[in-house]
Amino acid sequence: MNNSTVNFVEQDDPDVWAAIAAEQVRQQDGLEMIASENFTSPAVMQAVGSVLTNKYAEGYPGHRYYGGCEFVDTVEELARQRAKQLFGAEHVNVQPHSGSQANSAVYLMAIQPGDTVLAFDLAHGGHLTHGMKLNSSGILYRFVHYGVRRDNNLLDFDQIAALAREHKPKLIVAGASAYPREIPHDTFAEIARDVGAKLMVDMAHYAGLVAAGIHNNPLLVADFVTSTTHKTLRGPRGGIAMCRAENAKALDRAVFPGTQGGPLMHVIAGKAVAFGEALQPDFKEYAQKVVDNARTLAAALACGGVKLVSGGTDNHLMLVDVTPLGIGGKLAEEVLDRCGITCNKNMIPFDERKPMDPSGIRLGTPALTTRGMGSDEMQRIANWILRVLKSADDTALVAATKSEVAELAEQFPVPAAKLERQAGTRAGTLQTVAR
Ligand SMILES: Cc1ncc(COP(=O)(O)O)c(C=O)c1O
Repeated sequence: MNNSTVNFVEQDDPDVWAAIAAEQVRQQDGLEMIASENFTSPAVMQAVGSVLTNKYAEGYPGHRYYGGCEFVDTVEELARQRAKQLFGAEHVNVQPHSGSQANSAVYLMAIQPGDTVLAFDLAHGGHLTHGMKLNSSGILYRFVHYGVRRDNNLLDFDQIAALAREHKPKLIVAGASAYPREIPHDTFAEIARDVGAKLMVDMAHYAGLVAAGIHNNPLLVADFVTSTTHKTLRGPRGGIAMCRAENAKALDRAVFPGTQGGPLMHVIAGKAVAFGEALQPDFKEYAQKVVDNARTLAAALACGGVKLVSGGTDNHLMLVDVTPLGIGGKLAEEVLDRCGITCNKNMIPFDERKPMDPSGIRLGTPALTTRGMGSDEMQRIANWILRVLKSADDTALVAATKSEVAELAEQFPVPAAKLERQAGTRAGTLQTVAR
């Protein structure tokens, strides 16, 4: 190890350190294809690992319930201004601890308990905060769900309009966790306008594509827009909520004190850094490559005998029906995991199998693209996926694939590993450079 570094976690708590170090090796040696994951830059990680974790700052810049907030005010203001610029938003609240918290805050301000909300069905690609019965959204409000069409697996706007007319929801929610196509926010806005509903767009998954101008910007038509910051947007784990200036005060009140206490200022610093990165021209290139890679991967998989929900993708993810290969999603996830390819089993629309062993897997390209992988690598990865899924019980093939995966991974260091190689330090020591 470099003399100028001390690994405080390793020194003071070897048990925790062992798990962190092992996780970093897992991230470096494998191929991360979970569509909602990414690798933040070393700058984002350093901000999140900074002294700001020590600071309480209930309230908002200039109006805090604690002293000593002059520097965290600067950080939060930078995050707010950059996010406003990135999405063309009139108002941004950067305090939600997560995407779920951002959604809770919008519900709290926009509707009353018992009100009707129209949102995307979880079984067709929606998110649990869009009215799943065990989630607070489903407990507190009356959710009605729309889905995709059986024939092409695209959002069924005839059904959405009919349900809106029938149920007269106070709020319509657009956005998804597992929908491989661009969402036409203006069509949702038209339907909302027709029935006098407010529109909330949860762009948690594709915010990075919106920031890059690749997908249409929901801020142009929606009353409220929520997002996570850690998926295609490539920031720290967290959420944001946005609205027009006239709703700013109500939204801020709904986040704090409505649904949260003190903000995580270290994470807000990470958000500020990530928004700054996303404003750079090379982020547009990155986001375009994410989509190009997804298209290449999807096309190669479709040629190899699996079925893609909706026939392909125009974002960062795809839903792959693996049942034509004679296996289910659970086994597919497990076999790929044994090869060092991480993904998640996923229901496909109108799935006849159970959630714990559905028909599909969900694959995404944001993390692989951050590592610098391109079209050639997508072709190779598609071939590996097809070959092991076709011979799921061939242990020799799985072992051979695992070593090919590791060889490829070695050529594309994750951002943290790059920095450490440069500094001559060991895995996971990013935060520990001492004076
Ligand atoms: C569409 C959507 N909304 C909200 C969330 C919740 O985000 P978090 O896990 O940060 O609470 C997710 C996370 O997967 C999501 O996909």
